[in-house]
Amino acid sequence: MNTLTSFSAVAAPERARIVVLATGGTIAGSAATPTETSAYQAGALGIDTLLTAVPALDEVARIEAQQVASLDSKDMSPAFWTILAQRVNELLADDAIDGVVITHGTDTLEETAYLLHLTVKSRKPVVLTAAMRPASALSADGPLNLLNAVTLAANPAAVGQGVLVALNNQIHSAREAAKTSTYAVDAFQSPEFGILGWVQDGRVEFGRSVVRAHTTATEFVIGAAWPHVEIVTSYAGVSRALVDGLVAAGVRGIVVAGTGNGSIHASLQQALVDALKQGVAVVRSSRVGSGHVMRNGAALDDALGFVSAGSLNPYKARVLLMLALAAGGTGPVMLQRVFDQY
Ligand code: SIN
Repeated sequence: MNTLTSFSAVAAPERARIVVLATGGTIAGSAATPTETSAYQAGALGIDTLLTAVPALDEVARIEAQQVASLDSKDMSPAFWTILAQRVNELLADDAIDGVVITHGTDTLEETAYLLHLTVKSRKPVVLTAAMRPASALSADGPLNLLNAVTLAANPAAVGQGVLVALNNQIHSAREAAKTSTYAVDAFQSPEFGILGWVQDGRVEFGRSVVRAHTTATEFVIGAAWPHVEIVTSYAGVSRALVDGLVAAGVRGIVVAGTGNGSIHASLQQALVDALKQGVAVVRSSRVGSGHVMRNGAALDDALGFVSAGSLNPYKARVLLMLALAAGGTGPVMLQRVFDQY
């Protein structure tokens, strides 16, 4: 008869230590009734209230929460990006911290996420999450999104993947995630390349990685003064007045949300050529929402000194142009190299 003469206890793996930075948004929103999902105050609830609503978080990670802001993310600013990126870098430099989750409004999440993707100097996971319905709503999506974001940040598979966005059980790269619906819970898509993977019932699976340089592999550091960069859109009958006004105001860079493959109405294009002669960087993106803007696709770039944004949407192209100009970048050749690399 076999008897058990000895055994060794196997220690349970220690749960990851994750810091949740709360910035506001609909995930912290509160409305008068559970059926109200349009009229509510974003950022009304503190992070402790959001964490208390998800007891399962305790099984996934040891969580420390910090309320960094209580913003409606329509009011996001580059000054706040600097504070947030510096906070994330400080936290991740601590050996005791395994990852960071950031709760954010959906409206400008794609800009903040890409900014962090280019300026966080760590391979540890950074995951942004949000919600389309306020915390007070029937079928609020925030609690599960928060649980999935922490689950992702605590998973070794997320190390070295750059900044990630976790919503609706999906994992997006910060480079590609974009809000594509005003109300649907599957609002976030990665239009040109698709999702990186998924999180469900505690499982994380990646199907691909981002190939463009990010985090520790970028030349960008946070902290330089932000240059004035704006976005203008091309459309039927657009005038040159906006560009002329921006040049008069001292703008350093303009991203054009062009039509189709980044084509630009003749009157706007002439204004941009004139702006370029005043030292303003001009980057062509598209208002379409998916696809690439091919360099020279409209036979513009070599001839006129413009830069193609490739597959970056206008809002992400603006973030990259701001960082490139803040780092001292000038001229279309150098700027095109940056847009081809990131
Ligand atoms: C916001 O962006 O802060 C409000 C909208 C949202 O989070 O969905």
